[in-house]
Amino acid sequence: MDAGIQAKKRKRNGYDSVNTSPTHPGYKPDYDDTEGSTSLVFSVKEEVGALAKALKIFEVHGVNLIHLESRPKKSDVHCHEYEFFVAADNLKGGLKEAISDLEKSTKSFQVLSRGLKHEKNEMPWFPRKISDLDRFAHQILSYGSELDSDHPGFTDPVYRARRKEFADIAFNYKHGQPIPRVEYTKQERETWGTIFSELTKLYPTHACHEFNYVFPLLAENCGYSKDNIPQLEDISNFLKDCTGFRLRPVAGLLSSRDFLAGLAFRVFHSTQYIRHHSRPMYTPEPDLCHEILGHVPLFADPAFAQFSQEIGLASLGAPDDYIKKLATCYWFTVEFGLCRQEGKVKAYGAGLLSSFGELQYCLTDKPEKRSFDPEKTGIQEYPITNYQPVYYVADSFISAKEKMAKFASSIPRPFAVRYNPYTQSVEVLENKHQVANLTRSIRGDLGILEDALSKLK
Ligand SMILES: [Fe+2]
Repeated sequence: MDAGIQAKKRKRNGYDSVNTSPTHPGYKPDYDDTEGSTSLVFSVKEEVGALAKALKIFEVHGVNLIHLESRPKKSDVHCHEYEFFVAADNLKGGLKEAISDLEKSTKSFQVLSRGLKHEKNEMPWFPRKISDLDRFAHQILSYGSELDSDHPGFTDPVYRARRKEFADIAFNYKHGQPIPRVEYTKQERETWGTIFSELTKLYPTHACHEFNYVFPLLAENCGYSKDNIPQLEDISNFLKDCTGFRLRPVAGLLSSRDFLAGLAFRVFHSTQYIRHHSRPMYTPEPDLCHEILGHVPLFADPAFAQFSQEIGLASLGAPDDYIKKLATCYWFTVEFGLCRQEGKVKAYGAGLLSSFGELQYCLTDKPEKRSFDPEKTGIQEYPITNYQPVYYVADSFISAKEKMAKFASSIPRPFAVRYNPYTQSVEVLENKHQVANLTRSIRGDLGILEDALSKLK
C-alpha cells in the first residue's frame, strides 16, 4: 500500500500454550506497541477509493502508519460501512495536521489513545490514584473482540458475539464497581473443565510451593473446580484479603506502559472470556483460564505481590527504553519465570502454569536456564510463538524483588515513587517536604517494630 503503511498480518504458529498476550506487556504485536504511537479509529463514506483518500492524508503529512485493522461498523446492521483502526507513528511527520485533515474528511473520527513518547526532559503522564486506571479502559491498542483470521473462533459468529459481550463489560467498567458476574455456557464450562483437569495433574510436581499452597484456598474460597468457572469478582475479593491485589476486566491490548502501571496499584488487568471450544489446549491470546489458573494463585502470595508491584512502580514515568526492559523482565518472571526451591527448579510463571505442554518442557534439560538478573534479563530477546529457549531462575521472590528494586534505582527519573495503600495513590517523592513526611511514617513503623521485638524478648 502507499501512504507508508506497514500494516502487517500477525503471524502465529499453533501451540498449546499462551505465549501471546493482548493484555500483558510481554505481548509483541508485529507493530511496535510502545508509546511512540497514537491510535485512531475512523469510518469513511461509502464510495470507491474513500479509504485510499483517507490514507493519502497520512502520506501528504509524512506520517508513517504502523498498524491498520478494519471491521464492520458496530452501529451499521447491514455492514455497509467499515471502521478503520490505525496506529500512527507519533514521532515523524505532521500527525497533528493529519488528524485535523482526517477529522474533516471522514464520516466519524476518534482518537483512542495518544502516544506517550515524551520529548527530552518531559516526564510521561502516569496514574497517581487507583481510579486513574479507568482511563486505560478506553486506551486500548486494538479491539479485544476482533479476531485474526487464523484464530480458532474466527469463523464462529456465536463465539465472536460472545467475545463482544465480554469486551463491552470491560469497556464500561469503572474502578470501585463490582466486576459483573457472567453466566458461562455449558460449552465454556466443558472447555474450562478439560483444561482444569489436565493442568491440575501437573501442579503438585511442577509448580512452586507458593502456588500449591494457595491453589486449594482458591477452591475453598472462590469455587475453583473442574465443574465451575470461578467469577472474577470473587477472586478479586479473595486477593484483596490476601495481598491487596485486585482484578479489573480489560477489553483489549494495553500498552506495556499502561499494563505495568496497573501493577503499581496492585491491579491486574484480566480477561474474562473462555478460549474457543474447538481447541481447548490452545489459545493465541490469554483467556480467563490463563489468568485465573496461571496468574491468580501467585498474586495471593505476599512476596510475589510485592515483586510484581515493584515492576509496576519502576515503570511510572520511566523512559520508553526502560519500559521495554521492564516488560521483558515481566515476561521472564511473571509470565515465564522459574524458581529454585529445595534444590529443584519449579515453575511460577503464568504462561507456564497455564500450558500443559510448556509446563513439562520448561523443567527438562532442553531449554537453557540462567539466573534472574534484571540488567541482563531485560535485554534478552524471546520468541512469542514457540516454547522459550531460555528461562530465568529466581532464588526467591524476595531476592527477585530486591534485584528489581536495585534495577529500578538505575532508571533515569528525577524522583522516587511510593505507593500509599491508605489513599491507594502513588506519592511522588521529589522535594524535601515529601521526603520528611516519608521519614516520619517510617519512624512510626520502626517504633512498632521496636515494640514488637521487645515483647518477643
Ligand atoms: Fe499473562
